[in-house]
Amino acid sequence: MTIVKSSPSSNGQRKGGKSLGVLILAAGQGTRMESSLPKVLHGVGGKPMIFYTLRLANALKPAAIGIVVGHEAEKVRATVSELVKECGISRPIQFIVQKEMLGSGNAVLESVPFLKRFKTAVVLCGDTPLLTYESIYSLTMSHEEQKGQATLLTAKLANPKGYGRIVRSPMGEVLRIVEDAVATPKELAINEVNSGAYCFEVEPLTQGLKELGPKGPKREQFLTDIMELVRAKGGKINAYLSGNPEEILGVNSRVQLATSERVINRRMLDRLMLSGVTILDPASTHVDADVEVGQDSLIEPFTILRGKTKVGKQCRIGPFCYLDSAQIGNECEVRLSHLVNCRVLEKCTIGPFSNIRPDSVLGPRAKVGNFSEVKNSRVGFGSKVPHLSYIGDSEIAEDVNVGAGTITCNYDGKTKHKTVIGAKAFIGSNVNLVAPVKIGRGAKVGAGSTITEDVPDGALAIARERQVNKI
Ligand code: UD1
Ligand code: CA
Repeated sequence: MTIVKSSPSSNGQRKGGKSLGVLILAAGQGTRMESSLPKVLHGVGGKPMIFYTLRLANALKPAAIGIVVGHEAEKVRATVSELVKECGISRPIQFIVQKEMLGSGNAVLESVPFLKRFKTAVVLCGDTPLLTYESIYSLTMSHEEQKGQATLLTAKLANPKGYGRIVRSPMGEVLRIVEDAVATPKELAINEVNSGAYCFEVEPLTQGLKELGPKGPKREQFLTDIMELVRAKGGKINAYLSGNPEEILGVNSRVQLATSERVINRRMLDRLMLSGVTILDPASTHVDADVEVGQDSLIEPFTILRGKTKVGKQCRIGPFCYLDSAQIGNECEVRLSHLVNCRVLEKCTIGPFSNIRPDSVLGPRAKVGNFSEVKNSRVGFGSKVPHLSYIGDSEIAEDVNVGAGTITCNYDGKTKHKTVIGAKAFIGSNVNLVAPVKIGRGAKVGAGSTITEDVPDGALAIARERQVNKI
């Protein structure tokens, strides 16, 4: 057996120089998801589900990570490669292509050339995003201590339906795993289940794989049948019982997807609260895995923070806000608003009912209020767009007041044009600024004007019909 050399950033070496490999099974279609998207690419906490397994695998510091792909292999491979970059994983990643999806046992069988490089292997499923490092690390420790040929991570579930059941002898030894589909009524009553995470000695595993026959209604090779085969050759199977059954949840259906989403969200909210963020109503607050919120910020009910949203300190966000990859500075207030891919600098007030669209930068101390939309624009220090405006492709300098109902007419049907408003300008209510157009520093525009030409610094522009009173 060859022992793979570790990359500089990985240690992969266990006690006594024994190397560890991690294998992730991700080739299945996920039939029960009823989806055209491969199961492991379905999102949990704003990330493809396989992200969590990949991060866990990396945290174990193996010499290499193998990923079995099959159904929509190219799509899965491309997403995994992106995630590897995003997470900065520098240890070797090897994709193994399972030609026919003939079961989890067949997936591991196809991985034998990869596995043979290691003495010990951890096998994980790509559809168990809730597993924690603590449990998998404990599994590997328990495997080392008990010196068996395989150790399973198990849990006791009130409703074990769908999972492989752990069959033990009267003395408590693990005898085998029986799959839900082929279990007898007596076996179905067992509530200790297989999590799908295992630690194996590679030698007995590969020996056992040679004898793995097809089984069940779909004539698949079950990885779980390996336990009996290893035992038949005198091997010993151990189990590490997780104290937290919630984390072994496997995602086979969209119902389980929603359950795992809820758990990931709750973990995220707990983390934020423990770091000093007040969340008034965790049940109605949704936060993706990469979101950051600073100390003493308050998140009010019915607020959704997605993607790479970053909120500073002492902000008040919500109620009813949707932020996707929005960067919010310290001491901002955002109420009943929608913000996507934008930057809001410190001490701004947004909302209620503002729509801040991509590539906008607001503030510091700017105000965008009731029913105002801002797109690809800069609203300078202390400037205000308080009511019913559309600001698109604009540069608004500092201390500008934009009156209610002001519209930048940025689109001529073919191209987008820019509006530039100088510092301390005052735009009256219900003004149309027909771009490209420039309003000078300190200039004033009369209410109801349609401005088609540049306004010089300090000038007053009025462009509307004079009032006629007819009697
Ligand atoms: C599996 C276990 C079951 C355990 C449960 C935990 C088997 C036979 N059963 O059942 O004991 O309680 O997980 O969640 O393993 N896969 C492939 N190639 C295939 C088939 C599957 O790579 O040909 C991968 C899937 O992508 C998935 C994993 O193996 O990541 C498990 O397959 P799945 O069909 O989800 O098995 P379960 O029925 O959930
Ligand atoms: Ca599963």
